[in-house]
Amino acid sequence: MKILLTGANGYIGRRLKYKLLEDKSIELRLLVRDNKAISSKIDKIEIIEGSTFDTNSLKIALCGVDVAYYLIHSLASKDYEEKDRVSAKNFLDAAIFCGVKRIVYLGGLGDKDTASTHLKSRIETGEILSSNGDKINTIWFRAGVIIGSGSASFEIIRNIVQKLPIMITPKWVDTKAQPIGVDDVIEYLYQGAYVGSDNNLVVDIGAEQMSYKDMILKMGEVMGLRRFLFPVPFLSPKISSYWLTIFTPIPYNIASSLIDGLKSEVVVKNNNSEKYFNIIPKSYKESVAKALMEIESNQVISRWSDSYGEIWEKEHTKDIANAIFIDRKIVKLNGISSEDVFNSFICIGGENGWFGYDFLWNIRGFIDKLFGGYGTNRGRRDSCNLRIGDGVDFWKVIDVTENKRLLLFAQMKLPGKAWLEFVIEDDKLIQSAYFYPNGLFGRLYWYSLIPLHWLIFTNMINNIIKNSKN
Ligand SMILES: NC(=O)c1ccc[n+]([C@@H]2O[C@H](COP(=O)([O-])OP(=O)(O)OC[C@H]3O[C@@H](n4cnc5c(N)ncnc54)[C@H](OP(=O)(O)O)[C@@H]3O)[C@@H](O)[C@H]2O)c1
Repeated sequence: MKILLTGANGYIGRRLKYKLLEDKSIELRLLVRDNKAISSKIDKIEIIEGSTFDTNSLKIALCGVDVAYYLIHSLASKDYEEKDRVSAKNFLDAAIFCGVKRIVYLGGLGDKDTASTHLKSRIETGEILSSNGDKINTIWFRAGVIIGSGSASFEIIRNIVQKLPIMITPKWVDTKAQPIGVDDVIEYLYQGAYVGSDNNLVVDIGAEQMSYKDMILKMGEVMGLRRFLFPVPFLSPKISSYWLTIFTPIPYNIASSLIDGLKSEVVVKNNNSEKYFNIIPKSYKESVAKALMEIESNQVISRWSDSYGEIWEKEHTKDIANAIFIDRKIVKLNGISSEDVFNSFICIGGENGWFGYDFLWNIRGFIDKLFGGYGTNRGRRDSCNLRIGDGVDFWKVIDVTENKRLLLFAQMKLPGKAWLEFVIEDDKLIQSAYFYPNGLFGRLYWYSLIPLHWLIFTNMINNIIKNSKN
């Protein structure tokens, strides 16, 4: 069976890729927007670079394929509803043109009448993909909260449980949901390629029903933490979103989109998962325990912020040549191998810290949180491995070349654009902080930070070299 996996660098797609690779009867092809963001290049995977907005690349990706997974959304864009509509329509048309037999799609649980804008758009995508049942079969899975290491919902609950013994919560904590472990989601998606049905199917998936309050308390139990919740009627969605932004790694825009969805129930509405699949989903507590174990043992395959989207869509993020201010430090390696130096700077950020003055980074992270940004509690996916697209606190990896270069783009709230680059060249480590200011305020910002930058960046390069000797 020839399978096309789209969204292969996203949270679900990266995990499904490994599952599909276990099946020796599958020939796997990926559609990705940037080849460089693929974590592991395996010979037997065919990679097509393209986008659903480029119909030529879509046809190249879809022709010759039996089953195509649609794991795409454009949430990072302001006009995501329109983009998602066009994307799904282009995909459906190209799949029919190429004679693809089946589309497998994963959307969200919930009713259109009460759904948030984001969920409505996911429902619309499912409707478009299923709109031509005579010509192409569509299996549309619908999942609510997905529990897995690195998933946004899981990270939110984990962070508030860890940080807050007592919580004053909004009323939505009593809303019913039906969470499901990410491994079960992957199993359903995998079996979706094979399931025997000539008709389109909508398959609602979830483990046991519970309220968000139960999810918080049960996660506390698994973590060995007793937590107390006091729901009050006066916490508006805005305050709740802000509160989540401060205490979790999620920025305000994502928090508010999630909070918007929490007011309506997200529970299973049909029994097609039992009728067509032989899967018994793990309990909520089992999925939580598995996710925590993956985090502790440094085995997180994908995270909510992995998608390269924002960077891909804003080409300018790569354009350090336009930077007006540069703080450059150069140190000779004096015989230290480039491999050792690379292995030192590649561990930057997260729990490893920033090579000194971490309290200053944390203050900057807190200020970022106050302005609705990522802050420094997003951490890293893996303690000493980075790939393009990874988040590192409030930075995003936009280039990494083994034993040579690491380029980070600042996702913090800034009056301009900033990059941090490490390059090993001619027996030297060159560390550069680039800044492109927005107007006068941007310039004042840069000038006011010169003394702090001097301290932080001088210390940083010296400690990178020091650590590479250990
Ligand atoms: N994650 C959850 O908790 C959850 C829960 C319920 C349902 N779902 C559903 O599962 C599906 C996948 O979600 P996810 O969390 O894996 O999303 P994600 O991590 O944000 O990944 C989205 C993927 O879409 C790709 N993409 C976006 N626009 C594209 C385009 N025009 N052409 C080609 N690729 C494009 C992105 O590619 P780049 O890597 O190049 O940016 C990225 O790989 C979605 O339909 C979502 O609604 C997810």
